[in-house]
Amino acid sequence: MGERAVAAVILAAGMGTRMKSVLPKVLHPVAGLPMINHIQKALAPLDPARTVVVTSPGQDDVRAAVAPADTAVQTEALGTGHAVLAAREQLDGFDGTVLVLFGDTPLLRTETIQAMAEIMEGPEDPAVAVLGFRPKDPTLYGRLVTDADGHLEAIVEHRDCNEAQLKIGFCNAGIMGLDGRVALEFLDRIGNDNSKGEYYLTDIVAIARAAGRTCVTVEGDPEEVMGVDHRGKLAQAEAVAQRRLRDAAMAGGATLVMPETVYFSHDTVIGQDVTVEPNVVFGPGVRIHDNVHIKAFSHLEGCEVHPEAEIGPYGRLRPGAEIRTGGKIGNFVEVKKAVIEEGAKVNHLTYIGDARVGRKANIGAGTITCNYDGFFKYHTDIGAGAFIGSNTALVAPVKIGDGAIVGAGSTIARDVPADQLALTRAQQAGNDGWAARFRETQTAKKNAKK
Ligand code: UD1
Repeated sequence: MGERAVAAVILAAGMGTRMKSVLPKVLHPVAGLPMINHIQKALAPLDPARTVVVTSPGQDDVRAAVAPADTAVQTEALGTGHAVLAAREQLDGFDGTVLVLFGDTPLLRTETIQAMAEIMEGPEDPAVAVLGFRPKDPTLYGRLVTDADGHLEAIVEHRDCNEAQLKIGFCNAGIMGLDGRVALEFLDRIGNDNSKGEYYLTDIVAIARAAGRTCVTVEGDPEEVMGVDHRGKLAQAEAVAQRRLRDAAMAGGATLVMPETVYFSHDTVIGQDVTVEPNVVFGPGVRIHDNVHIKAFSHLEGCEVHPEAEIGPYGRLRPGAEIRTGGKIGNFVEVKKAVIEEGAKVNHLTYIGDARVGRKANIGAGTITCNYDGFFKYHTDIGAGAFIGSNTALVAPVKIGDGAIVGAGSTIARDVPADQLALTRAQQAGNDGWAARFRETQTAKKNAKK
């Protein structure tokens, strides 16, 4: 880690019109996390002394999403140089490294930001470091003009390039390190005398050179620095993020039988010797411990699954579900805000919500905890070793004691003491030979009509 303090300015002004969305561009999620928060997450290990997110006026949703980071409003979008100056107050008197980042580059890794911070502290004592990359198609990017020693001389925007400059393949990714001692002074010198009439942050390189300071580059991976400004790029970023998450899960000792069919959230925690079958979706907030088996087509969010548990196929774990060691959740079972204790089984076609299912309890097919009366939610408590017969409705609030048995087809609205057999089934009636007589008379009637 570097010695010098770091301040980060993340540019996020503008709606990103090409997204065609009412949601500001930087709030579109990748792996379930808004793009702007990916940048903050990548920055966090550098422990910035201050972070300022530059927004357009009225973007309260962006402000809320980046809290507790500070925000500054750029009143008019007059260019990237102008945008950084919106953070003037927060940068005033800061003499460490100022990192300028774009809010729409969700794939940027900590290691790359770290390399930028480190080169700023290197022996060349640069005033500016620029992250460069070599895109397949450099059209639209600023070109990095370097001297014979490889030092950066200037950045020329695509539309302002001469023919020789257009041939340069090394481009500006948009991420910069600035020497905080001179950053504001140099930023103030940026003018708008260019084809777009904008204040280009990129002009700071020529300004620093004219002041006798050195400017350097760091080369980044084109995939990593990709800016997302339309839905196609959003999908590409998602694909890269998913690939990284799958690789990390496998590197950590999880088997993904068909990795490309498993969807992770940015915060999925997955243990060792976990097997994930095809077509499993992890929403936000999932923690899977070691030796868990998640069968095909399961959907999990906001839940914790302890060792040796089995989920699915077609299991659905919703927020607040906790499946303890050795628990089993089978096909078409939905669990919400409920603890399934050690070794308990809920194997088929069941809804368990706002409940506790005690150790080794067995919940029969088609059991429903009726937890909601249209106004409030109520709790169901099922004791250890209880056996709930198939097609039972448990009308909460209700308590089933340890070891109790509930007969199939019951509607249980009163507490059941431990070890009791509870049944609400109507008496069965029988009429010998009735079915045969019925078939005979009906067949005769039908034949008479022909
Ligand atoms: C910028 C660079 C270009 C680089 C490219 C990489 C400049 C002048 N050019 O061009 O050299 O190759 O990024 O993608 O910097 N923004 C504001 N306020 C503004 C203008 C922009 O906050 O007034 C923010 C945008 O939200 C965006 C970022 O800055 O996240 C980049 O702006 P954009 O206009 O897309 O820059 P490019 O033209 O792509």
